Amino acid sequence: MIENKDKLLSLYIHWPYCASKCPYCDFNSHVNEAFDVKQWIKSYTNQLLEMNEQLLHHNVSFNNLNAVFFGGGTPSLMPLEIIDSILRTASNLFGFEENVEISLEANPSSYEKEKFNNLKEVGINRISIGVQSLNDENLKFLGRHHSSLDAQLAVDHAMKTFNNVSVDLIYAFYGQKLLHWTNELEVFLRKNDLQHLSLYQLTIENGTRFHTDYKKGLLNVIDTDHAADFYEKSNEILNDYNFLKYEVSNYAKNGFECKHNKNYWKSENWIGIGPGAYGRLWSSKQNIKRVEYQNYKNPKTWLSKNIHKSEFENINFFNDETSDIDTLTMGLRLYEGIETFKLFDKSIIEGHTFKKLQNKKILKVKNDMLKVEENYMIKLDSIIDFLFNH
Ligand SMILES: C[S@@+](CC[C@H](N)C(=O)[O-])C[C@H]1O[C@@H](n2cnc3c(N)ncnc32)[C@H](O)[C@@H]1O
Ligand code: SF4
Repeated sequence: MIENKDKLLSLYIHWPYCASKCPYCDFNSHVNEAFDVKQWIKSYTNQLLEMNEQLLHHNVSFNNLNAVFFGGGTPSLMPLEIIDSILRTASNLFGFEENVEISLEANPSSYEKEKFNNLKEVGINRISIGVQSLNDENLKFLGRHHSSLDAQLAVDHAMKTFNNVSVDLIYAFYGQKLLHWTNELEVFLRKNDLQHLSLYQLTIENGTRFHTDYKKGLLNVIDTDHAADFYEKSNEILNDYNFLKYEVSNYAKNGFECKHNKNYWKSENWIGIGPGAYGRLWSSKQNIKRVEYQNYKNPKTWLSKNIHKSEFENINFFNDETSDIDTLTMGLRLYEGIETFKLFDKSIIEGHTFKKLQNKKILKVKNDMLKVEENYMIKLDSIIDFLFNH
């Protein structure tokens, strides 16, 4: 029996608007359109109230929120009034743990940089800046509207304002020289005392402009062996700068792992509000294991469905099998692995496929933690596919 009482709870808020749409991005992000601040506050509030009811209904016991995460889109463009209202309501309804981590994703434009102090005043204590690339040519290729100097100024200002600063970078794209990348990364890390870094290898996502270009033969992709070289070299450099890699794409100084994302990978409880956001709770009700709440994706639809009272597009109930697949798919992303007690059906660990991967020293179980061996992390997607489809 999986007990809920020791589980953590965090809150994710989705803000779906951006100044422009980047050609690689398939997140639920839309170019800014006119909106009414009061209506958004009302709808977010209705969702928080409804989730409070759902926590009671499913007997989810928890000790305050340990993390809040404003993601997007570009939440640094969110009116402060909305951020402030969400944080006040969430604090009243659920309470905040003493060391609650309250993160917000920011783009490095000068307008957003000027907002950092105000964001801190309303309670944000961790900022994640989408620098994306460290040179102007690559920023142009990625369709970004800021320069590397804008990004550096935003990082400087963030480091003065917050004690916990993270940066997102995209790398390993066709034509990028490994030596250029490693030099840029080293110079950047030497100059900036960051707490956290997310390094994403460029992926070509369906429905993006890059995908259209790729289909037309206008865009090439890097081959997987070369991408693995980028990954290995980056890992070495980050290790030299005292970053611990704790997830496939995420690195943190000791004690600065992103709490919200960790809750998500470790299959804790989280509430998701805003267009397209989803949340998951472990239920203590009979015959229900986990409940997933999916929000309407389109911002206008979401607003119209939540303005009077909260309505989800779907509520899904997980059975043992879907819960275990999800727990493993998420948990194996972490270098520390996932606790085996979170699985309902342990037979997967005793199965033929699992044993095969274990004998090849690709998967291992130690101290009730199931994990992928470090040097195989780069092949995680195919390992998970093999585990469930053979
Ligand atoms: C929600 S987005 C970022 C928030 C913010 N609006 C920004 O652009 O800086 C989260 C991160 O995902 C990464 N990302 C998005 N699409 C990607 C792709 N196709 N390949 C690799 N990384 C991607 C980017 O690094 C981005 O900062
Ligand atoms: S990468 Fe960020 S700014 Fe660009 S479209 Fe996606 S969410 Fe918006």
